[in-house]
Amino acid sequence: MRGLRARVRDYYSGTIERHGPNPLGVDWPNAASQYLRFAQLMKVCDFSAPLSLNDFGCGYGALLEYLNMRHAEAEVGYRGIDISASMITVARERWGSHGRAVFAVGSRCGRRADYSIASGVCNVRLGHPVGEWENYVESILADMRASSRIGFAVNFLLPHDDKPTEDGLYRSNPQRWAGFCREQLGCSVRLLGDYGLREFTLLIRMKPQKAAPRKAVSCKEVRRSPR
Ligand SMILES: C[S@@+](CC[C@H](N)C(=O)[O-])C[C@H]1O[C@@H](n2cnc3c(N)ncnc32)[C@H](O)[C@@H]1O
Repeated sequence: MRGLRARVRDYYSGTIERHGPNPLGVDWPNAASQYLRFAQLMKVCDFSAPLSLNDFGCGYGALLEYLNMRHAEAEVGYRGIDISASMITVARERWGSHGRAVFAVGSRCGRRADYSIASGVCNVRLGHPVGEWENYVESILADMRASSRIGFAVNFLLPHDDKPTEDGLYRSNPQRWAGFCREQLGCSVRLLGDYGLREFTLLIRMKPQKAAPRKAVSCKEVRRSPR
């Protein structure tokens, strides 16, 4: 998987170096669709209390623009993580004076937060075999689960009805990843679709841990116990 990650890193370093900190720099066509994705993903968060957030695959930190616009009153401890050092350099230049945002280069969340989100991280397969790409996606989701106290959210491209998936992209049906999160990661999943893009978003929450059964105490033990 190291070779795969290196190719993903080089691909996105290329986009930000060519286009700079704007949607094209993270391979999105425009800010409207970029923000529409954030609006879906952020539904996993309860903004009524202060919260911490991992933005996995943060790019140049566009989510902070969205949060400033839509949740200006919310107290969010933000950590952006990106595999591309070029992205993180640009993100730090842009958000250096933001009091509650930090950035890290990496391919793991690297810190537990209340929530983690990932937008557009699983879409560009760069010609890797689907099986290899799905193993990679599984490792990302498992890391997001381990790094989130309350929940996490991720989006995927949907297959076309009438033509095969474009070379280099990854598209899947929602059951593939909702099933993985339910069955392998033991989470509950809410599926969001029909929001105007050929995509879907999964809002994934940890299931509350069941309390361990109490050890039965025998009558003898009760009688022997000191008063
Ligand atoms: C399509 S861009 C989206 C950026 C940002 N989430 C946004 O919506 O503006 C995907 C980003 O994920 C990063 N990325 C892809 N795979 C990654 C991985 N395995 N670990 C960390 N970052 C990754 C890329 O470098 C790129 O910045």
